[in-house]
Amino acid sequence: MSKIQVTFNREKGTISRYIYGQFAEHLGRCIYEGVWVGTESDIPNHNGMRLDVVEALKAIQVPVIRWPGGCFADEYHWKDGIGPTEERATIVNTHWGGVTENNHFGTHEFFELCKQVGAEAYVNGDVGSGTVQEMQEWVEYMTMDGVSPMSKLRRENGQDDPWKVKFFGVGNESWGCGGNMRPEYYADLYRRYQTYVRQYTKEPLYKIACGPNIDDYHWMDVLMKQATPFMDGISLHHYALASKWEDKRPALGFPDEEWFSLIESAVKMDELITRHSTIMDKYDPEKRVGLIVDEWGSWLAVEPGTNPGFLYQQNTIRDAMIASLTLNIFHKHADRVHMANIAQMVNVLQAMILTEGEKMIKTPTYYVFELYKNHQDATVVDTDGIISDTASYTVSKKDGMMTASFCNYSLTEAETVTLSLVDGSFDEAEAYGIVGKKTDDHNSFENPNAIVKQAFKDFFVEENELRITLPPMSVISVYAKGK
Ligand code: AHR
Repeated sequence: MSKIQVTFNREKGTISRYIYGQFAEHLGRCIYEGVWVGTESDIPNHNGMRLDVVEALKAIQVPVIRWPGGCFADEYHWKDGIGPTEERATIVNTHWGGVTENNHFGTHEFFELCKQVGAEAYVNGDVGSGTVQEMQEWVEYMTMDGVSPMSKLRRENGQDDPWKVKFFGVGNESWGCGGNMRPEYYADLYRRYQTYVRQYTKEPLYKIACGPNIDDYHWMDVLMKQATPFMDGISLHHYALASKWEDKRPALGFPDEEWFSLIESAVKMDELITRHSTIMDKYDPEKRVGLIVDEWGSWLAVEPGTNPGFLYQQNTIRDAMIASLTLNIFHKHADRVHMANIAQMVNVLQAMILTEGEKMIKTPTYYVFELYKNHQDATVVDTDGIISDTASYTVSKKDGMMTASFCNYSLTEAETVTLSLVDGSFDEAEAYGIVGKKTDDHNSFENPNAIVKQAFKDFFVEENELRITLPPMSVISVYAKGK
């Protein structure tokens, strides 16, 4: 039995809604089939975007979408993706399966997707193989309101008004697929490229430098030392692995030890953020610069029989644990983590949604994002107490409503938690959750509702105490009004 004391009026910072961001790359069936089916498709769509997928994404209040990559971003030449669709350049997606990329989804389509979903745009620019001029012109094309060569071109392509680009990334994984650079070299390139990421709008463009791979603390130190004044955010990538990088383990039918090894790998996020933040504090003690975890999630073996370059993996109750405990870690570090983007939105890695032709299913990870919606832009509430070492939680408040979310990743033990409110009492409360019976419980096209969000009844409220019993393999959120 765990006891947690909650002091409603002791606030510990705000959880940016952008922590609930998504990542959508030109990779496998994420963009094509997953989001974009084209206007001529039999699959119901609006301006080429699947209606079912857009509806599902709207329901979880996706705040921001990162695009076009990933590794793809550093080979993406944006002019290939504008103008009449049939005349667009056909290229090879060298990173992801060597498949043909017809560029039917380009800049205009991306902003149409953001509009339909109600999300902000996070555009990732090409440093690896692109020129400064190309990046400068892309920003001008997207955001320039007045008269200029690029705003003229945009208007000729049917878009009068500039779009809003909230976030702009200057390169991706520049230490790897984005150019195999050393941090000293990239830091200089970053300073140069970002100079020409011009500000054409009143609202400042949030510029993101390419940060370290996992625990490359040297990279972080060099970048912060050389480029802090020129950046608003710096990225961090960390994927949860059940074994070594070269030995991707199956998403289904795995042994119990891989339940725990995957979780252990995900939990490393806490240490990574702590240590990277400590370095950032040296150069940015006010925490102006955000740590942007723009790729995270589980990376498992592809489903048998699928293209290894497409990174299509199933998604189970174990992935729901990864999502829940990682979001709890981000909440804890809300003062430094200003945005995060799970990889990836549809059909790739730890996806929200899987599609097969006209069919669509929501994954257990999707339901965690739905359960956690109320944490977006909420204030973290201070708590004291101990919870078992196979559980993790967040308590936050927004508009007088408390949301307490828990993840119990024990395979066998239920966990009873008593929340006791120090400065008030509970009024109305309701709870919802997802609960696994087997470690690889998942939704499939044959059985799409094996794991869905359900009302959860095993809790009890009396005055200032709320007692809840979390089943093994569960993610539960309680929403309670206070008095
Ligand atoms: O998300 C898949 C890939 O993982 C991205 O393209 C790349 O940035 C990372 O290595």
